[in-house]
Amino acid sequence: RQPISHDLSYAQQCGLPALREALLVHLRQARGVQAEPAQVLIVPSAQAAFAILAQACVEPGDTVWVEDPGYPGIGSVLRSRGAVVVARPVDLAGITLPQEQSSQAPKLIYTTPSHQFPTGVTMPLPRRLALLEHAARVGALVIEDDYDSEYQYHGHPVPSLQGLDTQGCVAYVGTFSKTLAPGLRMAYLVVPPRWLALVETIATVSGYAVPAHFQLAMADFMAGGGFQRHLRRVTTEAGERMQRLAQTLRQAQDPRLGIPKPQGGLQLCVDWSGQTPDTAIAKRLLERNLYVVPLSSLCHVNPRQGFVMGVGLVSKEEIPEAAARFVETLSEFD
Ligand SMILES: Cc1ncc(COP(=O)(O)O)c(C=O)c1O
Repeated sequence: RQPISHDLSYAQQCGLPALREALLVHLRQARGVQAEPAQVLIVPSAQAAFAILAQACVEPGDTVWVEDPGYPGIGSVLRSRGAVVVARPVDLAGITLPQEQSSQAPKLIYTTPSHQFPTGVTMPLPRRLALLEHAARVGALVIEDDYDSEYQYHGHPVPSLQGLDTQGCVAYVGTFSKTLAPGLRMAYLVVPPRWLALVETIATVSGYAVPAHFQLAMADFMAGGGFQRHLRRVTTEAGERMQRLAQTLRQAQDPRLGIPKPQGGLQLCVDWSGQTPDTAIAKRLLERNLYVVPLSSLCHVNPRQGFVMGVGLVSKEEIPEAAARFVETLSEFD
């Protein structure tokens, strides 16, 4: 919209002030994030943010918690640090906490409270407060992966953990991969003050910087209201796709499918109670040009069968036919 003058020096490698400020305006308003611009780091991806945080706070042999089922990208990062990865079961309120104090307190807890990946459940306020209390008591850093919170189809989203945290134990991670495109290579990290110096050092020496002109263009897009308009457009479209997918699957009346009401996000996680493993069915679906992730492939210790279907890359018009192909393929299996 406007000519932009670049700062192409080595200064501000962790994020240009214009983007840090524009992002915070958005995050305060949309997610209740409470922070100063200096706590915001601009990184190429959420994955890079996980790698930086793991390097900052995990030593070999440390216990870390992830969600089960959960996002595979975090497990690989934590294992590469030599962490002991403990998979905490997910229920209808998100990651569960142990009843009793364990001898192996976690150093880091990874969670996706807005729409748990892959089940899509939202962590309600009581679980959020219990998680924060637990993390503060054992001295754990919580990674709040808010990867798709913009996609909320009913009512207001629950405020972020970061905004509820009074002890400085939450590192908030967000990404433009879901709202714009993964190829932009732009994500952000809001770091609690006591971790800031170390995290900035790691991000800088690892070379996790985002090109200055992309950051300034994004800052301009956000400050000028373009990002908000874009969000309204893409979230409306995604909500319609999710509704259409759930509706078409329900119409098939296959009793082996458990179809949730889509609350948000870009993926629908459908439970499967048939005899045939979800992996075998997903393989057959791929032969028919349908890419569906078997839920069992995202489970650690608590096996579950189901299908995770993304709506990010399929148009509204294509959904009924694709869903019909899915249901037809299921009918070949027990
Ligand atoms: C739960 C979750 N977190 C993070 C990411 C990745 O974000 P990024 O592309 O910024 O690494 C994804 C991508 O699918 C995701 O599903």
